[in-house]
Amino acid sequence: MVVGDVEEGAELVVIGAGPGGYTAAIRAAQKDMDVVVIDKEEVGGICLNHGCIPAKALIHASKYRADLKHWDEIGIHTKELEVDFESIQEWKEEVVEKLDTGIEQLFEAHNIEYKQGYARFIDEETVRVEEEHDAENVKFEKAIIATGSRPIEIPGFEFDKERVISSRDLLQLEEVPDEIVVIGGGYIGMEAVTKFCKFGSTVKVLEAQDRVLSGFDEEIVDHIRETSACYGDEIYTGVTAKEAVPEGEKVTVKAETDGENIEVEGDYVLVAVGRTPELALDGLNIEKAGVETTENGFVDVDEQLRSSNENIFAIGDCAGQPMLAHKAYREGKVAAEAAAGKNTAFDSQYIPKVAYTDPEIAAVGMTPMEAEEQFESTKVGKFKFSASGRALTANKPDGFVRVVARESGKLEGVQIVGPHASDIIAEATLALEMQGYLDDVANTIHAHPTFPEVFSEACEDAMDESIHKT
Ligand code: NAI
Repeated sequence: MVVGDVEEGAELVVIGAGPGGYTAAIRAAQKDMDVVVIDKEEVGGICLNHGCIPAKALIHASKYRADLKHWDEIGIHTKELEVDFESIQEWKEEVVEKLDTGIEQLFEAHNIEYKQGYARFIDEETVRVEEEHDAENVKFEKAIIATGSRPIEIPGFEFDKERVISSRDLLQLEEVPDEIVVIGGGYIGMEAVTKFCKFGSTVKVLEAQDRVLSGFDEEIVDHIRETSACYGDEIYTGVTAKEAVPEGEKVTVKAETDGENIEVEGDYVLVAVGRTPELALDGLNIEKAGVETTENGFVDVDEQLRSSNENIFAIGDCAGQPMLAHKAYREGKVAAEAAAGKNTAFDSQYIPKVAYTDPEIAAVGMTPMEAEEQFESTKVGKFKFSASGRALTANKPDGFVRVVARESGKLEGVQIVGPHASDIIAEATLALEMQGYLDDVANTIHAHPTFPEVFSEACEDAMDESIHKT
């Protein structure tokens, strides 16, 4: 067969089956579109297969080991602890597989055709799909680009999958290393600490800026550094990594701080200095489809996620910051509805962010400082988990919820460091999205005893009405 001979058509082609792409495909099918999804790998994308999900599974497994001391103190004694990392990895893969299978079943239920192959645009209405033994052209009326992002590779730290590794390789390690050097104290770097410090590794972070997790405000980040040894001694800031020199089973990282050269050694060096949109380098050929990019390399899209070609949309990491799966989910729905001719737009004002440190960190909206810059007068409330009955019964007393509102009481932002921050932030985001006021939250009955009561008390505190604050 001559390659390219086969040609089929679809109303909508979605390129990429990650959180953005598979959501877009399902929503489009719900709107009666005939949909083909193409991905070079399995369904689920980086988040499900090599990012969010496996990372959170390993974080869950690592917690048990760290919590054992507490169980022992309260009278639950166990024999000597043994970590069988191979079994943990197998369990993690099972979780991933279950979710992958779920997506495949959803595709089937919605009559969505899935093609595993490499997609490239050949013109404004055709993509070529190179599958393992075949290639075909698919003509489309509409297309959604959901190709995600890949780790940035910096000079001197080319990934070799042996000693110089990406976050994807880190999640596949077969044993717990003694020492890991991490370049970059952002989301991935600090979550690497959460996982491996508790499994017993020494994790050394080299961060170029003067503090880690620069996307979160200082008081919040300082809190985790003060309360957990994992985020303390081995986090080096103001350090620029220059080169990795692998030698046998070790790797030495050469770096610079205050004009001085330093060297740090580990079994692996994880490079986590950010991610870049997955577009041009891999030959997607978006220019052949008349799709333009911004100067930062993202697809240039409007509020409907429509690119410079009105029939082609882009969503998720390749369509701009923040590179967060939950932003991609929402964008997937909007783009699919717009492709189906619905009058819709991405109008969510608030995108929460969560870092899975221990305790967790989460934030949405403005910090007190940002609110002060914008409004003449503001109200700030804070409530600690150490005064929460639920937090004490779970032995999770560290952290606090802080809220910021205008003088009128209209909520403008919430920051959380503490247990279940990743869950509590959902209520905070809803309150902000609903244009809520402090008393809307405070007067909502929160079940007792629960972690979200701390959010409610922080709102009461901002009104000087907290019951449990001394
Ligand atoms: P990041 O942008 O969060 O952090 C990268 C860090 O590397 C920055 O602090 C930067 O100053 C530092 N850096 C850059 N070059 C350096 C050098 N030569 N030496 C030392 N430090 C250097 O990027 P990260 O952690 O790679 O994550 C990528 C993206 O993945 C994030 O933007 C985030 O959106 C997403 N992500 C989100 C998660 C979540 O929502 N919980 C978890 C993991 C990733």
